[in-house]
Amino acid sequence: MDLKNIAVIGAGTMGNGIAHVFAQNGFAVNLIDVNAGQLDKALQTIQKNFDRQIAKGAATEEQKKNALANLTTFTDMAQGVKEAQLVVEAATENIDLKLNIFKQLDNLAPGHALLATNTSSISITRIAAVTKRASQVIGMHFMNPVPVMKLVEIINGYATSKNVTDSIVALSKQLGKVPCVVNDYPGFIANRILMPMINEAIYSLYEGIAGVNEIDTIMKLGMAHPMGPLQLADFIGLDTCHAILNVLFEGFGNPKYAPCPLLTNMVTAGYLGVKSGEGFYKYEAGSKELVVSDRFRL
Ligand SMILES: NC(=O)c1ccc[n+]([C@@H]2O[C@H](COP(=O)([O-])OP(=O)(O)OC[C@H]3O[C@@H](n4cnc5c(N)ncnc54)[C@H](O)[C@@H]3O)[C@@H](O)[C@H]2O)c1
Repeated sequence: MDLKNIAVIGAGTMGNGIAHVFAQNGFAVNLIDVNAGQLDKALQTIQKNFDRQIAKGAATEEQKKNALANLTTFTDMAQGVKEAQLVVEAATENIDLKLNIFKQLDNLAPGHALLATNTSSISITRIAAVTKRASQVIGMHFMNPVPVMKLVEIINGYATSKNVTDSIVALSKQLGKVPCVVNDYPGFIANRILMPMINEAIYSLYEGIAGVNEIDTIMKLGMAHPMGPLQLADFIGLDTCHAILNVLFEGFGNPKYAPCPLLTNMVTAGYLGVKSGEGFYKYEAGSKELVVSDRFRL
């Protein structure tokens, strides 16, 4: 399948990174968001991330110029997807919102277009079922930050055709990524394994077995993880972790996935990690120092 015209829906954390890597690799990218301010912010972020890549010798000024020329922004989905061969949806993680976007996309994108979603946890089969092209719907789960992280977890919905999977695998390789194909069950693979680890780390803190520093240091130095599970949870967003655990809990009906009550309390109180300024650690603009939140000081 010839996939040259790409539309990316949602210009947030993931959408700007996805648009960045497609544009950098010579694809024509239409970046679409309902919020015009978010599109401006995404373009600034893409330029800043290119400058960082250039400083490290991972990209050139020429590549930056060409990539920016490959990018067009839209607030109107109909305009943005009308010539798309592949749409990658990276809008907010909300089931009703995504079902609504895919219903619209089914009417607005050309009949031959493939529809991918970057969802972290929502069933691909369920999203595909609201379209009349379920065999052309697939999960394309990029990791954050997209320009840096090599993995793309590719998720086959129940009805996804083999041709479509093969095309998305080939395309991911063209982006310089390493694709891994998995089937559509709650949490796929990445989050099914990661989230119970994070939840268990939060339980260990909740039960007073060890402090934030101790838990993260044990996993960093003992297991060679680049960051501890509590720091990672702050980075992902505690609300996102909570939502994914609930998808696992409801999807399997197994209490082992139930979010730890401490996590539920933190999310309810608005302590969401990096994005809100405090979670297990405290974050101050301009400071890279890792400071444990006062609430968890022993
Ligand atoms: N943040 C991560 O680490 C991460 C990692 C992997 C996958 N994901 C998944 O990627 C998706 C996006 O997450 P994010 O962190 O970038 O979210 P985000 O909140 O940073 O961005 C979401 C964007 O979607 C836009 N949006 C909302 N409704 C829209 C609509 N109807 N049409 C067009 N745009 C719309 C919002 O304006 C916002 O700019 C989610 O499905 C999430 O689960 C996130």
